Amino acid sequence: MSGMEIKMQTKSQNTADQFNFDQFQFGVKATDHILVARYREGEWQSAAIQPFEHLSISPLAMCLHYGQTVFEGLKAYKQVNGELSIFRLDRHYERMNESLQRMAMPNVPEELFKDGIIKLVELEKEWISDREGYSLYIRPFMIATEERLGVSISKEYLFMVVCTPMAAYYAKPLKVKVERQYTRAAKGGVGAAKNGGNYGAAYYPANLAQQEGFDQVIWTDAETHNYVEESGTMNLMFIVDGVLLTPPTGETILSGVTRDSLIQIAKDFGWQVEVRPISLDEIKQAFDIGKKVEAFGVGTAAVVAPFELIQLDKVNYQPYVGDDAQMYQLKQKLTAIRSGAEEDTYGWSFKPITNCYSDAGKMS
Ligand code: COI
Repeated sequence: MSGMEIKMQTKSQNTADQFNFDQFQFGVKATDHILVARYREGEWQSAAIQPFEHLSISPLAMCLHYGQTVFEGLKAYKQVNGELSIFRLDRHYERMNESLQRMAMPNVPEELFKDGIIKLVELEKEWISDREGYSLYIRPFMIATEERLGVSISKEYLFMVVCTPMAAYYAKPLKVKVERQYTRAAKGGVGAAKNGGNYGAAYYPANLAQQEGFDQVIWTDAETHNYVEESGTMNLMFIVDGVLLTPPTGETILSGVTRDSLIQIAKDFGWQVEVRPISLDEIKQAFDIGKKVEAFGVGTAAVVAPFELIQLDKVNYQPYVGDDAQMYQLKQKLTAIRSGAEEDTYGWSFKPITNCYSDAGKMS
């Protein structure tokens, strides 16, 4: 990597074999190593992959006060032929820097992001279970660490990457409520960035909905609350009488990588795809006149999360979730590409050389 090497300090043994993959819960168990890189005085000073450990930062660290944080989420897979693959590494790299720019944080150099993730994934490949539907969730993130309570752009940062074992994020179809009071993002704000604050700010309305028995909310636009935007932490899609509908990304809707991948797959299936604003009236009408409506959230963690109930202005609607729902075709194709069961004609699966089932790259 140009000018800066990633130092490797690895554990003598990984602990994946001590982890109970059947008791999977998202994001509660970190794998054995972490990548940590430090930025100060206008440049990246050091980078190392080292045993996972707790951080020590000053209580004055600016991220703890003013929310200058950005994260990404991507996945690595064990392919059917034994190769390791990382899904859409390039696009996640680009999006990380788009988010960093909006949060006035320095870019992560491409070599640091990509080589760091590749090295870490190779080291942690034992954490990818052979069970169906399992993968490795990779969480790159950056925080402002300058010690100062002054409200200004931090001059120091930590860029880190941690990994956790991954299986199904949602175990069953979701019940969601259309949120028309609270707002996730407004034009000119940070809704398009993967800034931690966007997620923290969503807890309160999501929790109110959960108290009413819903799993998540469908966010609507800040100005009129008449147009759907996202759902929970996912992009939102409908299939209405065979037509795939999804709102356009932009200032208030995250440019989801899964969303983008599924749109391309749907187009290649020959489906009609409409990326345009979708009003609540349109959805309501589709249900009222008996159209077949599928509704689902899409995201790296959730992949395709079907909705079995949508509550809109106190009226419950039931999207179609039968086994032959079209959304499962999208999910199946994406899963097959990621696992290598079907050819990746899109060039989405980045393959480091390591073969998961060989001893190559094993930690010494
Ligand atoms: C992802 O799907 O990677 C996300 O960012 C959602 C996450 C907050 C669990």
